[in-house]
Amino acid sequence: MKFGYFDDERSEYVITTPRTPLPWINYLGSEDLFALCSNTAGGYSFYRDARLRRITRYRYNNSPLDSDGFHVYIRDGDTVWNPGWQPVQTEPDFYRCRHGLGYTVIEGKKNGVAVRQELFVPKGDNCLLMRVRVSNEGADEKALKVFPYVEFCLWDAMDDSSNFQRNFSTGEVEIDGAAIYHKTEYRERRNHYAVFWADRQPDGFDTSREAFMGVYGGPARPEAVFSGGCTGSVAHGWQPVAAQQFNLTLAPGAAEELIFGLGYIENPQDEKWEALGVINKTRAKAMMARYADGAAFDAALRTLSEHWKGLLSSYRASTGDEKLDRMVNVWNQYQCMVTFNMSRSASYFESGMGRGMGFRDSCQDLLGFVHMIPERARERILDIAATQFPDGSAYHQYQPLTKKGNLDVGSGFNDDPLWLIAGTCAYIAETGDFGILDELVPFDNDESLAEPLLEHLRRSFNYTRTHLGPHGLPLTGRADWNDCLNLNCFSEHPGESFQITGPSEGPVAESVFIAGMFVKYGSVWARLCRALGREEEAADAERSVEKMTAVTLDAGWDGEWFRRAYDAFGHVVGGKECEEGQIFIEPQGMCVMAGIGKEDGRAELALKSVRERLDTEYGIVLQQPPYRRYHLELGEISSYPPGYKENAGIFCHNNPWIVCAEAELGHGDRAFEVYRRTCPAYLEDISEIHRTEPYVYSQMVAGKDAPTFGEAKNSWLTGTAAWTFVSVSQAILGIKPELEGLRIDPCVPSDLKSFTVTRRWRGAVYVITVSDPEGRQKGVRELIVDGERLEGNVIPARPEGSVVKVTAVLG
Ligand code: BGC
Ligand code: NOJ
Repeated sequence: MKFGYFDDERSEYVITTPRTPLPWINYLGSEDLFALCSNTAGGYSFYRDARLRRITRYRYNNSPLDSDGFHVYIRDGDTVWNPGWQPVQTEPDFYRCRHGLGYTVIEGKKNGVAVRQELFVPKGDNCLLMRVRVSNEGADEKALKVFPYVEFCLWDAMDDSSNFQRNFSTGEVEIDGAAIYHKTEYRERRNHYAVFWADRQPDGFDTSREAFMGVYGGPARPEAVFSGGCTGSVAHGWQPVAAQQFNLTLAPGAAEELIFGLGYIENPQDEKWEALGVINKTRAKAMMARYADGAAFDAALRTLSEHWKGLLSSYRASTGDEKLDRMVNVWNQYQCMVTFNMSRSASYFESGMGRGMGFRDSCQDLLGFVHMIPERARERILDIAATQFPDGSAYHQYQPLTKKGNLDVGSGFNDDPLWLIAGTCAYIAETGDFGILDELVPFDNDESLAEPLLEHLRRSFNYTRTHLGPHGLPLTGRADWNDCLNLNCFSEHPGESFQITGPSEGPVAESVFIAGMFVKYGSVWARLCRALGREEEAADAERSVEKMTAVTLDAGWDGEWFRRAYDAFGHVVGGKECEEGQIFIEPQGMCVMAGIGKEDGRAELALKSVRERLDTEYGIVLQQPPYRRYHLELGEISSYPPGYKENAGIFCHNNPWIVCAEAELGHGDRAFEVYRRTCPAYLEDISEIHRTEPYVYSQMVAGKDAPTFGEAKNSWLTGTAAWTFVSVSQAILGIKPELEGLRIDPCVPSDLKSFTVTRRWRGAVYVITVSDPEGRQKGVRELIVDGERLEGNVIPARPEGSVVKVTAVLG
């Protein structure tokens, strides 16, 4: 069942009923101020850090779901309604929500009144703008009351939801004309406040939640709206809010537009006050003046739309498959940008109070956005590398505000170092900027330990090859990519962290997955050394890679697939002898992507085993059979009920590894089948089962062992976004930026006879047309670049500014 449709012309997803299976959200903002906005105008906002600078409050785990947000109440006679249906839930005569690139438009109609609510965060400014257009489409005059409402958070979201003995006494506001200022804690240690404003004087206001809602009222039945109107309350402690009332009289056919803003302002220490206790509003007033009328609002919206057009023009495919095109050209790249902005912090599943930036997560996210914003990818790489330890290991997480490694979690996740090679080399392949390798970057944020970035990569590589276990495979540490496979931790008590309980380093537990990574990214490291003219170092790296390949084919091979690991006792994880967890997806994907077993047929066999043992109609599950009892020696993976999360859920992040692996072996039909099964646009028709947004990936879909097989969770903030973009843009459509040039190496389904990709790369634009007349799926038979035939399939970079015409024939 569908709950909307894609409007490809406008790059929007249009939702036609407010009763979506879960709130379907959008992200507004791409610099410092962000808002999450659902299809019913639920959501919240923050400045930079979702925990420390929360502007509006949100109750995640609420019933009914999603009743806090940016709501507008309409009172028309005795009828009270919201254009987005929530929170009053009066049945509308018409409803529509358009989620577009950085903006959301919600439209509702009731009893001849139409309301359109548009929300976005303008480029270069710290405010959320909202325009509400109210029109009378009926035959009689209407006397309406319109009430916008937001509830402030007392800044630190964690403290806000726990420290009530203090918080109920600290809230402060100021009211000045059409603006309501939220200034809690401004008198002492803060230099920032929030402001909600309207473009005209309201007919009433409230700033105390209790006064507006009633003590026992609530978002679904605010007392002020249902009875006599706003009361002019001034909040002292308790819960500061911004509510306003506008009385509109509309003749038939008449309409009014109101513009609102929710801004975040910082003042320098010596400019905080206008008078004792009166905040300096100069900057806030300047902000309001920037959006004083509809023309300014429209201009800011146009700038935003140009911005997105620019970003998305770096990679555009035209394949004839509308689902494929809309995912590749719009939604997958859009989600990659959201993961760049948010990492894993704030969504409807991530509270914004938990994890900081992940070392491995951020390096992988980079693979999906580097082509759109290379300069910001560069900064990100340098930030990440600065949290590496001198021995090459890494803090697993770091804080976005301080950019310092997070001591609570520490290091010991032994896949982390290699992801830095993956991210940096992807950046250089994209930009040709080898100069980044000369940048001096601290270790452990200590400037005195700074070394060129190249040295950081070298230490990543060396860390892995010097931390090997009894079989010669890399030691796993606290966990490798799979955070829930905790082979050294042995957590027995509720509430303990599965990952950081117990010793971080066992001398025995080894990871076949990291071995695959070492072969894949170690080869990239060797190529980088060679490109820099460091022949000896390249050859030395290659010898280590060869050795690891041999070890993987020996201790890492189970007969029909790659093993997953060895536990702290040296027992196999992910092998035939295991009663549960016999085969895992991760090493099959990573080892085959690395080319291990390609020559002797073992790679083929491993992927055949994946197909036979892990495939389902909704994607490939992480492992089989699921763990049905808790395995102390394996950790969190066996804490989930069968079919969920890492315990045999369809973990979408590593499905694209199989896509890349299948493409590596030339299986275009199969690669595309795996791609399609988890791709949201192809799941739109089963939204009642899938439940999350049909325009973005979710981290996890319940596997076949779960009672809710096919149900997705944790949409938006997942490494799936970047990896699926890599798999479809580079492995299937086959346009691969490499250190040496742009490789054209598609592996397509046999019924895709031709397609075109327009790709911006190193300052030039490549218009690449690929045809596969005989359905061969892979192998470039002929490559013509600007009219000339090229040997091989790697195009050396052309001068900046050129438009390069490329045709490739497969066969
Ligand atoms: C989840 C993992 C996640 C980890 C982060 C676990 O509970 O299952 O998916 O990576 O937490 O710490
Ligand atoms: C989510 C985490 O963010 C990621 O780092 C990890 O690889 C996966 N879960 C798998 O456990």
